Amino acid sequence: MNSFRNLFPAIASGRARTYLDNAAMTQIAKPVTDRMAEFEADGRSNVKRGIYPLATRANDAFEAARASVAAFMGAKDKDEVIFTSGATAAINLVAHAYGAGLKSGDEIMVGEGEHHANIVPWQMLCERKGLELVVLPVDGDGHLQIEKMVDLISDRTRLIAVTHGSNVTGAVTDVRIITSMARKRGIPVLIDGAQRAGHGPVDVASIGCDFYVLSGHKMFGPTGIGALWARSELLQDLPPFLGGGEMITRVSFDGTEFAPPPHRFEAGTPPVTQAIGLGAAADWLRGLEWAEITTAERELTQSLLDVLNQHKRIAVWDPMGVAAGKVPRLPILSFTVEGAHPHDICEVMGGEGVALRGGHHCAQPLMSAFGVDATTRASLALYNDETDIEAFDKAITRMLKVLS
Ligand SMILES: Cc1ncc(COP(=O)(O)O)c(C=O)c1O
Repeated sequence: MNSFRNLFPAIASGRARTYLDNAAMTQIAKPVTDRMAEFEADGRSNVKRGIYPLATRANDAFEAARASVAAFMGAKDKDEVIFTSGATAAINLVAHAYGAGLKSGDEIMVGEGEHHANIVPWQMLCERKGLELVVLPVDGDGHLQIEKMVDLISDRTRLIAVTHGSNVTGAVTDVRIITSMARKRGIPVLIDGAQRAGHGPVDVASIGCDFYVLSGHKMFGPTGIGALWARSELLQDLPPFLGGGEMITRVSFDGTEFAPPPHRFEAGTPPVTQAIGLGAAADWLRGLEWAEITTAERELTQSLLDVLNQHKRIAVWDPMGVAAGKVPRLPILSFTVEGAHPHDICEVMGGEGVALRGGHHCAQPLMSAFGVDATTRASLALYNDETDIEAFDKAITRMLKVLS
């Protein structure tokens, strides 16, 4: 049995039996809940304000969590990390703060296969400020056509926003090609790492991006927390997004002076316990053997593909187009079944104890590129093993009979 399973009570107990919905939310790791419970029981106090010992300890724990997340992302300075409520909130923060300096006619480039969280905030910014949204297309398999960037970049391009890994197909974007092309032209790049973060630490320095976002609930952490990393030179000059307490140095009716980053971007009481949980998840993940885990995840992805490819009625939306072990990819697969709707598939498979997700996966432009309304998605995490593939195989055979 996969030894990680014991660290996840819902998996170990069988309540989350064949849990293949990790791209929506991973289970929470015991080292995470332990640290959150410890803070709630022994150290709870608001942060950034009190000077009594309990408050100082709470603040230290909160800032230590920031340092843990910074280390997970390869940031050179912990103050480049801003806690947000998730990846969506982090992207909206950038759209408002960075977007404040943009002018009518400026352009934002996004990938066609993005999650709505990395499309809609940019569309809204474009509406507010009269900007143009430029779309970097995918091919019919969902592969981002990076080679088209050269023609689509203009002297008005002000930001490029792309995902590190697709939440629909598991395709990993070659982000370094994008950042090196963008850097030559002085264009900042935002990477949406919501899916990638559950599969090991990242290194923003070697990626060469300017903004990177992630969410706690997709990396074995709590819900309601995420983080934005931003290059400090950029962050220093950005105006705040939300106003309120703890993001100022002085307030009077003549005007307000804002605190330096990261506090300038964290108005109000932050989700302290969740931030501490995210820090614990980051520490735990940093301590794991990722070469082994990645190999295991790729092998299981190949086994899932083998199961799906046995059946003529099933089409897999696989932009990698090669054996899963051969290329960097996330362990996420989307498929369609001739004559069966993804919601019915998920219901039947759910009845067999297999948790999958069916729908547009908040990626409707990608669904349009595929020419479908919805797909069924199976997504793996480090606690999945061959027993899950066996259960998936049986449930697929049953589902194909029930929905024939
Ligand atoms: C690729 C991607 N980006 C962004 C998000 C949104 O993340 P959050 O729920 O933390 O706002 C998701 C969530 O599914 C995602 O898969």
